[in-house]
Amino acid sequence: MVTAPQDGQITNWLNWSAAALVHSLEDNKQEAEWLLSSLLNCSKSELYLQKNELSEKQCELFQDWISRRIKGEPAQYIAGWTEFYGHRFNVNKSVLIPRAETERLVDVAIYTLQELEKHQIVDIGTGSGCIAISVAAEIPSASVLGLDISPEALVTAEENASINKLLNVQFLQTDFLQFTPSEPVYDGLLMTPPYIPTNEMDTLMKEVRDYEPDLALTDHEDGLTFYRHLADTAQKWVRPGGWLILEVGLGEHPQKAITCFDTKGFAQLELIADFNTDDRILKVQVV
Ligand SMILES: C[S@@+](CC[C@H](N)C(=O)[O-])C[C@H]1O[C@@H](n2cnc3c(N)ncnc32)[C@H](O)[C@@H]1O
Repeated sequence: MVTAPQDGQITNWLNWSAAALVHSLEDNKQEAEWLLSSLLNCSKSELYLQKNELSEKQCELFQDWISRRIKGEPAQYIAGWTEFYGHRFNVNKSVLIPRAETERLVDVAIYTLQELEKHQIVDIGTGSGCIAISVAAEIPSASVLGLDISPEALVTAEENASINKLLNVQFLQTDFLQFTPSEPVYDGLLMTPPYIPTNEMDTLMKEVRDYEPDLALTDHEDGLTFYRHLADTAQKWVRPGGWLILEVGLGEHPQKAITCFDTKGFAQLELIADFNTDDRILKVQVV
């Protein structure tokens, strides 16, 4: 690794970190800026206006961050946060890092569900709470419940609701595959389940496979377990006229997911594309 600066000057540390990351990342300069601005709790543009120097402790911490990044740890886990739908979310190894593509699911949920009279919404596999919290922020009359099997993920989701000052969202530990409500009380069910089939886990980027929780990535089967289970139980979760809004994967996965629902008596089955024109959202109406 290139020799670290001997002083605390920000531009020296920026140049050093960008050079240190050059062989590991294409966008090495942007990541170096993002990590250093996270460490100093300022914006990227403020970095270049800072008069202060890094303290000795900050220099040591930043060196540790850069060596972790070189080994492949995602920048968001190192800095402990990310941005999603314009909100700040704490992240750690117990939650999936919210993906930009998932913002499309939030768009679809907002325009579909705010038209309804009532807004009782459940978010299954809530993780960091990014979907539940973003929808709760955009539909203030909504009452949103985020469910997850992982107690550690739920601690992070609670923290994120508090950071974002939202009172209309709650979280509960539930195993979706084991629990079915006795009667439907929701108008919308949102879900981004673990949908990577076991045999595709090896094709994931090292950064994802080695650092993000297995529980969030794969159902350890064919990637359709959660869709099949929902197709069998949806009428117990969602009132007639309500909606299921689900994220699906790439390739053949959207078509395979749709077949889980198409003979089970649902009204409308629609695949909605994201901004890259990939079909990534499956919207299904309960009758
Ligand atoms: C793909 S992640 C989605 C996280 C978050 N909704 C997002 O979009 O960033 C799937 C989530 O489902 C949770 N999960 C896995 N199995 C579950 C189960 N049987 N019941 C409830 N949640 C489960 C995982 O812990 C994980 O947080």
